[in-house]
Amino acid sequence: MMMVGVNLMATLTADEVRALDPYAFLAVLGKRVIHPGGRASTDRLLDWADVQPGERVLDVGCGVGTTAIRLAQECGAEVVAADIAPLMRERAAANVSGSKVASRVSVEEADILALPYPDNSFDVVVAEAVTMFVNRKQAAAELARVCRPGGRVLATEFFWLRPPTEEARQIFLGEVCPGLRFDSVEEWVEIYGGAGLTNLRTESGPFEMMTARGFLADEGKHAASVVARGMSRPAYFRKMMWLMPRMARAVPYLGYVLVMAGKPE
Ligand SMILES: C[S@@+](CC[C@H](N)C(=O)[O-])C[C@H]1O[C@@H](n2cnc3c(N)ncnc32)[C@H](O)[C@@H]1O
Repeated sequence: MMMVGVNLMATLTADEVRALDPYAFLAVLGKRVIHPGGRASTDRLLDWADVQPGERVLDVGCGVGTTAIRLAQECGAEVVAADIAPLMRERAAANVSGSKVASRVSVEEADILALPYPDNSFDVVVAEAVTMFVNRKQAAAELARVCRPGGRVLATEFFWLRPPTEEARQIFLGEVCPGLRFDSVEEWVEIYGGAGLTNLRTESGPFEMMTARGFLADEGKHAASVVARGMSRPAYFRKMMWLMPRMARAVPYLGYVLVMAGKPE
């Protein structure tokens, strides 16, 4: 999958649009929530974590910055919104600067596999739908490393809600999201527990982000503009027509799992 350079989303060629990861494509369309549990699952994580005003939070793999902005706006946190992809950081920076909390959210470049922060830097570390794209044990270890003792690590991941058909597995992991790795809730517990985190709490549910109901619940007043943008260029429309039927084949088998874990004192 391509990594685009620092440029405006508007300048992507048709070939670049075709090569985008599904989540980068959704960001280009203006979608704000790009993880399998949707906005309601972020509500849940924020509720569990009980983030306090002034706490330092890292949202790594921040995408377009939606959760980072919420953390600053709703919890009063000081937030680092970090992502490896220039395209995502560009969108996140635009969303942050259009928010009321621009002074409390800094958008930075970071790789979850080698976070550019000292040990114990953050009170709370968030990674919604990121660890599963990379070496999962290494990523979980990095999340734990930069979290302070007594702090919390929050994550959202995919898991197989029920055993997928070979066709669904091949479509989702082979065509839609090559390189993605996940299996069961138990496996995620092992990965985060293996990173030295304790008091693991999980909650799971069906993947609804790409259903009509999930889309409307997540995007609210932005929903119409996302759809309009998808129709605004033949390259976007073609990509949507490629993506949607494939997603529909995989959706019945997919679920999300939320993880909250503590770093021991
Ligand atoms: C599925 S999106 C989730 C975005 C955002 N967390 C959200 O929930 O809307 C995955 C994000 O992880 C980022 N990402 C992928 N690999 C990464 C890595 N090695 N380090 C940091 N971010 C990464 C992608 O650029 C993308 O923004």
